[in-house]
Amino acid sequence: MFDSGVGGLTVLHATLVRLPHEDVVYLGDTGRFPYGPRSPEELIAYGRELTAILVAQGAKLIVVACNSATAAALPVLQREVPVLGVITPEARAAVQATRARKVGVLATEATINSRRYVEAIHDLDAGIEVTQVACPGLAESIQGGEPYSERTLELVQEACAPLREAGVDVAMLGCTHSPLVRHMLQRELGPDVQTIAAAEELAEEIAATLARKGWQRADDHRGTYRFLATGDTEAFREEGTRFLQLPIGDVEHVPVCRRADCATAQ
Ligand code: DGL
Repeated sequence: MFDSGVGGLTVLHATLVRLPHEDVVYLGDTGRFPYGPRSPEELIAYGRELTAILVAQGAKLIVVACNSATAAALPVLQREVPVLGVITPEARAAVQATRARKVGVLATEATINSRRYVEAIHDLDAGIEVTQVACPGLAESIQGGEPYSERTLELVQEACAPLREAGVDVAMLGCTHSPLVRHMLQRELGPDVQTIAAAEELAEEIAATLARKGWQRADDHRGTYRFLATGDTEAFREEGTRFLQLPIGDVEHVPVCRRADCATAQ
């Protein structure tokens, strides 16, 4: 499983709870965080590089626990290895949940610009009105060490205002960092707006995929989990523990391409 940082830990948490027998390796690309302002070409190159690292670690299934990387790279990666991503499972849940047929999406610039949420929702129901709001800086504020600061609150308020104005009854937390401030978001959106995040939906999809392929671990196997990071391993451990709500243990550093031309060099 990989993400640009600690946001994917929301998906990991749900996966470890849903699939306690599976062994999981989580790779946080903290050295190249944030992904939100990056181009699709960069995100495809990063996705391929991280996938290759995880495959070399013995992964049987790759989970892209990052909306920005899913939006840009999922179709490319799926042609190469078994991969699941966010976006589609949440879109299905949102379409089923909305009564007003008005859905909001909060995500990074990369995800919003890709319009993947709009397409995924409209593939299921073209009559649903989708209001997209890019939240530049929100993932950085959450991952930066002070997730519950005045600055984060300001960004959350700015992001939620257009959704309230549009009258959505479902808001998709289209960035895996957002559930970490779910209560702040819910307070701004009001109690009548249902928030939908990737974690539980994706954990169900992982379980179904492993079962379909006959790849599950035996019920008597106690699943393990471990961590790799491309940036500072101690910072990852500190921030991550708070969000995973489980001990993180040692984090191994893995090197990745840091040159500006990584995307074209591959
Ligand atoms: N957690 C990532 C996502 O779901 C992105 C945050 C970032 O790296 O900008 O899009």
